[in-house]
Amino acid sequence: GGRPGHGRRLLGFEPVSTSDADTFVVPEGYEAQVIIPWGTPIRPEGPAWREDGGNTADEQAEQVGMNHDGMHFFPLGHGREGSRRGLLVLNHEYVDQELLFPDGAADMTGEKVRKALAAHGVSVVEIERRRDGSWERVDSRYARRVTGDTPVAFSGPVGADHPALRAAGRPRGTLNNCSHGVTPWGTYLACEENWNNYFGTTDTGWEPDATQERYGVSAEGGGFDWHLADSRFDLAANPNEINRFGWIVEIDPKRPDAEPVKRTALGRVKHEGCTVTESRGRVVAYTGDDQDGDYIYKFVGKGNWRMQRARGRSPLDHGTLYVASFQDDGSGEWLPLTHGEGPLTRENGWADQADVLLRTREAADAVGATKMDRPEWITVNPRNNDVYCTLTNGSGWDSAVNPRKPNPYGHIVRWTEKHRDHTSTTFEWDLFVLAGDPAYDERVDLDESNIFGSPDGVWFDDDGRLWIQTDISNGSQHLAEKGYDNIGNNQMLAADPETGEIRRFLTGPRGCEITGATATPDQRTLFVNVQHPGESTDHWGETTAENPRAVSNWPDFRPNGRPRSATVAITRVDGGKIGA
Ligand code: FEO
Ligand code: CA
Ligand code: CA
Ligand code: CA
Repeated sequence: GGRPGHGRRLLGFEPVSTSDADTFVVPEGYEAQVIIPWGTPIRPEGPAWREDGGNTADEQAEQVGMNHDGMHFFPLGHGREGSRRGLLVLNHEYVDQELLFPDGAADMTGEKVRKALAAHGVSVVEIERRRDGSWERVDSRYARRVTGDTPVAFSGPVGADHPALRAAGRPRGTLNNCSHGVTPWGTYLACEENWNNYFGTTDTGWEPDATQERYGVSAEGGGFDWHLADSRFDLAANPNEINRFGWIVEIDPKRPDAEPVKRTALGRVKHEGCTVTESRGRVVAYTGDDQDGDYIYKFVGKGNWRMQRARGRSPLDHGTLYVASFQDDGSGEWLPLTHGEGPLTRENGWADQADVLLRTREAADAVGATKMDRPEWITVNPRNNDVYCTLTNGSGWDSAVNPRKPNPYGHIVRWTEKHRDHTSTTFEWDLFVLAGDPAYDERVDLDESNIFGSPDGVWFDDDGRLWIQTDISNGSQHLAEKGYDNIGNNQMLAADPETGEIRRFLTGPRGCEITGATATPDQRTLFVNVQHPGESTDHWGETTAENPRAVSNWPDFRPNGRPRSATVAITRVDGGKIGA
């Protein structure tokens, strides 16, 4: 598969086949070890996992959360030691309430809400590589859970005292943390994606305002039903609580007592991730708003980030937020979302910059940003500063940058900022790959070694290998109907960005998505996450007619157990670099 390589070969493994088995498959010469599945105590002496879902809310708050997603390995120690010991920091995107409770999702109670909150958020666990090459979670003064109930601070233009944030109790928690970011100063950014789903109300007098409408906030909510048992999540009883969500959340993994901080200058959308880079000493953060027809944003910090920090200021609190406009001729422009500029004036109803940020989507509508097919992860090529963004699937939006209508398979767009400077306000773009199956779409230039659909995670390793992870949803639509019957379980591929060569590196168990990618500094261990194995089934082995491939009992395969999200540590038998 793929075109012959030019120059140095980046990809040195034999591609694996597509798979519909309930296993995790890596190439010949590679090994995979499951670590820290949902329910693992974050400290060795912590509460043990109960396979019947019977752990309490308090126990869950001391265990690894559910539905692992974005993740980063922070080395502890220098040189070789840093590749043997570190902090794994990972998001827990959402909870499957059928699996979370022994009696399933029905009959919401206060205790169930507490447990669901405890299974969300972020885990910080210390892991160590043993002499036999395996990885193990060890005791640590850094071990920590940030949950939907952890006290949080606000910073930037929307401060904690802003009237829009006044609600019952102090601000707490982070929810729906999908992808993530890492700052040059060593902190972790958790990103709040589908936060609207947690709120609802039975008050028939409640109606969404224009901003809530734009964010998809509804009385019914997204199926969690927490508002039935906890007024914190009731849109009528506690109307401003929802304004505390939709932000980027900074967590310092080395300071377990420090409150997470919501950095409001980066905007309020359904943040998929927050990819941080820098140019000319200024910090730049890219973020996608994952909704069909929504936008790609970037934040450019004001001044030199080191000097800002030396003065005790956060480089993420001061700067300009932009939204992307992609022209059909391959050019592009970053449009500022700055109060007083363009249409974002007082005369047009924009009170101040805090107002612009609280209503980021409407501000981006007003400046005329380009609608995209669900922007997911963003990554930067370390060799040339090119930026890559996955557009997982969508309606197709009548533009060259979203060329398929509808777009069930997704694609990856790439752009080069002017002068390869991330602070530039213009860029040039092209399409890196159109995903899919050539049996259904002849424009697709892929074959059995690399067909894939619905790219979601995307990440460059230090050598410039582009890793692509897929999230084909296990909804009710039949696989053949949507043209996905040859593609198999979700997978991870590696690409050479110069030659365009792509090879399938691994396949996941049934019903899961593959997400989260991070490596030790020596690139000899790659960590990835298996999220929601068994999605859309009854989870104990009964199939659905629509998608029998979704049935899973991975990774424990216990007769009375349940499928669990987990991290997988991938190494090479010969100890070499992953992917090389
Ligand atoms: Fe949480 Fe957009 O994936
Ligand atoms: Ca995702
Ligand atoms: Ca998914
Ligand atoms: Ca996704």
